[in-house]
Amino acid sequence: MRHKTNNHALIAYTSPASEVSEQYRIIQTNLFYTTVDHPVKTILVTSTADGEGKTTLLCNLGISYAEIGKRVLLVDANFRRPMLHRIMGGKNVQGLAQGLMNPALLLQAVVDTSIPNLKLLPSGMETANPSKLLSAGLEQALKELSKHFDLVLVDSPSLASVSDSQVAAACCDGVVLVVRYGRIKQASVHKTVEKLKLVKARILGTVISFRPRHEQR
Ligand SMILES: Nc1ncnc2c1ncn2[C@@H]1O[C@H](COP(=O)(O)OP(=O)(O)OP(=O)(O)O)[C@@H](O)[C@H]1O
Ligand SMILES: [Mg+2]
Repeated sequence: MRHKTNNHALIAYTSPASEVSEQYRIIQTNLFYTTVDHPVKTILVTSTADGEGKTTLLCNLGISYAEIGKRVLLVDANFRRPMLHRIMGGKNVQGLAQGLMNPALLLQAVVDTSIPNLKLLPSGMETANPSKLLSAGLEQALKELSKHFDLVLVDSPSLASVSDSQVAAACCDGVVLVVRYGRIKQASVHKTVEKLKLVKARILGTVISFRPRHEQR
């Protein structure tokens, strides 16, 4: 899919009747049927390279689920370039980093957004070694968070540069891979899939972003 406006991350909320919002609902439906036999509660959204549209997909997918009454939590596990607090309009002081270091702080760091049913766990303060922090506590943290939400969507950096997403993929029930149309070579996508398979991630599907309208079927 390709957006035409600049207000990408919240389009499913601001323009629910738009064609793009409908495409997010289609992705949501496809995910439902893909996981109907083995339901998922925690989904990681990742990609091969930076700027492929992970955060945009994650936010809009979260909004689509929230709209049908699911209690959704967006988790910012992109310590390299955290964006969710900016998009949702909040601070990034307390967040996942604190919750990983001290589990008692995890739920306290969850904040409301202006969208009903949609909550946010920002990344929290900067941390020197995100990969290590995630390995040490993410699995347990997600287990705890899933008790309070119907769906937990985890944002992450790309797989090409750092290992954070591999660690996160191993802790989530499923992974959605974003591939930016015309930007990423097939061989690179294969490498990404191999990295995910290595940690036994369950790849739920691939979303092609930035696909020009005339190329869409
Ligand atoms: N499907 C799309 N069509 C057109 N523009 C898009 C689409 N998805 C995202 N964008 C735009 O591309 C830019 C990068 O998107 P986004 O921040 O979601 O990527 P990302 O993969 O999360 O980046 P990063 O690797 O830095 O976390 C943003 O300006 C966003 O508005
Ligand atoms: Mg991002």
